[in-house]
Amino acid sequence: MGLFDSQYSNKAGQVDQNRLPRHIAIIMDGNGRWAKQRGLPRTAGHKVGAEVFRKIATYCKNLGVEYLTVYAFSTENWKRPETEVSVIMGLLKQYMLEAIDSMERDQIRLRFLGDLSAISPELQELVERTNAISSRIEGFQANVCLNYGGRDEILQAARTFAAECAAGEAAPEELTADRFGGYLYSAGIPDPDLVIRPSGELRLSNFLLWQCAYAEFYFCDTLWPDFDERALDAAIIDYQRRDRRFGGIK
Ligand code: IPE
Ligand code: IPE
Ligand code: MG
Repeated sequence: MGLFDSQYSNKAGQVDQNRLPRHIAIIMDGNGRWAKQRGLPRTAGHKVGAEVFRKIATYCKNLGVEYLTVYAFSTENWKRPETEVSVIMGLLKQYMLEAIDSMERDQIRLRFLGDLSAISPELQELVERTNAISSRIEGFQANVCLNYGGRDEILQAARTFAAECAAGEAAPEELTADRFGGYLYSAGIPDPDLVIRPSGELRLSNFLLWQCAYAEFYFCDTLWPDFDERALDAAIIDYQRRDRRFGGIK
């Protein structure tokens, strides 16, 4: 089975293809608990979690979702034991190498969001290679948040704008929400419509703080390695029942 192959395709037909969230964001959480429940090392959960990401990305693309953003490694995840961090980085490397071979065929654009200066030079080089391939692809885009923190993202944007002001290239009163968005790692990507957090935790954990201003949230107890196309359908169906008002009235 190829990297982005998937057999399942909304068989129940309950997802309204005409009202899909344009952008789905997922906090891929619960890998460690999934492994622990099976008496396995936490890293076994990360391995399965990486497979689930491939499967869900394919499914989103086939469904017609335009953007999928996943939280893979936070600015806080460096607190974990070095061995766990290195397994996660190894899985990311493996994914990037596979993607370099398959993303053009599968027409999947990849973008990495976060402070990439702190990842290894080897991974940075692979990110650059995926960026070069992505520039030749149109359509579905998967964003992988790597060494990503919502606060870090806002701070670096503020620093960039402040530096422009200090250099006389910008003035504070020129700053609008749209312009600020252009300084974020997510520049050019529409805000997420639906944010999913599996594993039973009811928090954002520093994910897309700016971009989630009007996102719809969906929480479920499924641990990420058990998450599948049906679980995604359930989240989308729930989303499609919501009334988004953006502060207005209907
Ligand atoms: C999410 O799963 C993956 C990362 C944060 C890298 P966890 O590793 O947080 O799994 P739990 O929450 O401990 O079960
Ligand atoms: C959020 O999960 C980060 C990722 C999924 C990459 P965590 O497991 O790190 O979050 P907390 O510690 O439960 O808030
Ligand atoms: Mg966790």
